[in-house]
Amino acid sequence: MILIGFMGSGKSTVGSRLAAMSGIGFMDLDDLVAEEAGRAVPEIFAAEGEAGFRRREREALESLPVGEPLVLATGGGLVDALDEPVSLRERGRVFWLDLAWHTAWLRLQGTEDARPLLAGASPAQVQELFLRRRPGYAAAADFRLRTDLAGAEQVARMIMVASGRGHGEGDVG
Ligand code: S3P
Repeated sequence: MILIGFMGSGKSTVGSRLAAMSGIGFMDLDDLVAEEAGRAVPEIFAAEGEAGFRRREREALESLPVGEPLVLATGGGLVDALDEPVSLRERGRVFWLDLAWHTAWLRLQGTEDARPLLAGASPAQVQELFLRRRPGYAAAADFRLRTDLAGAEQVARMIMVASGRGHGEGDVG
């Protein structure tokens, strides 16, 4: 189960709920990138630029075994880093966590230190990125779920159902 979507869409929060519900291991691709680089995401951007980060992101994805169950939360720009969404699909069903721009913007307030693309960017620039990425998310995803209309627990349950893993209420089977 692979979670994609813009920064602030709740990929990590929903992903950890989903992992707890399903008993499947959880991984955050940003954490894997940081671990392999030996430094935090903002430091990778500062030292290697966005291109360096994207290369690391692709490599981290490709290093994950295909065919093993995993709940994977990805970074919001992963779809930009991939030529084809096929490398995502072969690793599981892809869920786009979507939300209204204004909700995304509100959620991102105060997170500039952890998210280098936000540092120094105007709301209009971030909104432009939000809109520009939508077709990429749409092309990569098997399912789209709104995360501003339901809580993380509810979204995780919907993903369980869509994955054929019961109703997300303990009847995992
Ligand atoms: C990015 C999103 C971040 C992180 C990096 C770049 C992006 O992850 O990968 O700062 O390009 O949208 P989150 O979506 O978890 O914030």
